[in-house]
Amino acid sequence: MPEVWGESLRHLGEVRMLRTLRTIEGAQGPRVRVNGNEVVLLCSNNYLGLANHPLLVDAAIKATEVYGVGSGASRLVSGSMELHVALEERLAAFKQTEAALLFNSGFAANTGILQGLFESEDVIFSDDLNHASIIDGCRLAKARTVVYPHRDVNALEEKLRQEQARRKGRFLIVTDGVFSMDGDIAPIPELVSLKQRYDALLMIDDAHGSGVLGPCGRGTAEHFGLHDEIDLHMGTLGKAFGVCGAYLAASQVVIETLINRCRPFIFSTSLSPSVPAAAMAALDIIESDEGHERRQRLRHNTNIFSSTLRKAGFDLLQSETQIVPVITRDPEPTMAATEALLGRGFFMQGIRPPTVPSGTCRLRATLMADHTESDVLAAAEAVRELLSQQNHV
Ligand SMILES: Cc1ncc(COP(=O)(O)O)c(C=O)c1O
Repeated sequence: MPEVWGESLRHLGEVRMLRTLRTIEGAQGPRVRVNGNEVVLLCSNNYLGLANHPLLVDAAIKATEVYGVGSGASRLVSGSMELHVALEERLAAFKQTEAALLFNSGFAANTGILQGLFESEDVIFSDDLNHASIIDGCRLAKARTVVYPHRDVNALEEKLRQEQARRKGRFLIVTDGVFSMDGDIAPIPELVSLKQRYDALLMIDDAHGSGVLGPCGRGTAEHFGLHDEIDLHMGTLGKAFGVCGAYLAASQVVIETLINRCRPFIFSTSLSPSVPAAAMAALDIIESDEGHERRQRLRHNTNIFSSTLRKAGFDLLQSETQIVPVITRDPEPTMAATEALLGRGFFMQGIRPPTVPSGTCRLRATLMADHTESDVLAAAEAVRELLSQQNHV
């Protein structure tokens, strides 16, 4: 048996598709150490720079001193601690919903929400570039899944019309708010209109929009002024919030249903108390003037990086956000570019299938609020110079 795995790993290595871990030495920040060298970090989801913010660190230390490091059990047994409940109340207020529920990760949230809420007579309509955790959630749910082409609202409407004729249960439209590999934004106004016309529920996975988009950082729906139209607001705490974990903000009946039926919620030890404490400190910042300033700096860094590369002729797909794919097409040059950039002091992860469709390998850059302008411009210039030599323009 081990030979089979060894053979398969050797094959992945030969076609430059083997995945390995790279260790970050020290804390997360706009610059980190890799193999003893300081590099500008351009592949972290720590968008607002909160992962090592003193207020979050302090909140985590204080919570640990009072509550210890472990929760000891799942929420339904004895692991529902004051800090979990306090954070859920804060998140419900932030997302302006009746209630919220914490999950141990965004992956657990998506798989559990879809499995816990949708039955065999229901239909889930899912964008074909939705995150892997939504795809797996659709697989775990008893509902039928209908995949529609990426952001194609006409194709979605056609599928809704077809399903309406034989409808027996509920319809759910589920989409990433900001797409994790392309950095483009879901067509929320059109999805809201379809949801209303076809009496569907609308769920946004706002892993990359929460804390970042919208005047108050509430996320993608707020960006479009349509926050109240969303039925299921899923968000993560490990990206802009700088901590880990995830949540669903929704109506009380949805949250109570999940407490009773969602397997990753029911059968898993709850988050360490330091996590909700740090996440509440993150929320304090996100809702403050400092949060507003950090969002502006992130937008500024994104604009200078993207406009420099667009002007130089690179294909950045339809990215409008801090996630900026620079298309390199094939695995070999993509991974060679990642290594070469690391040698020049810039860490930008190459992304290959199966994470993205074949022929669309990319350097996926992610900007942070606390990158300096000169680091951002130097990174764009390094990408331009390197990929021009590889004929990617
Ligand atoms: C769109 C989206 N949803 C969900 C997740 C999973 O979140 P987590 O990392 O908290 O498991 C990710 C992670 O990258 C994501 O990009």
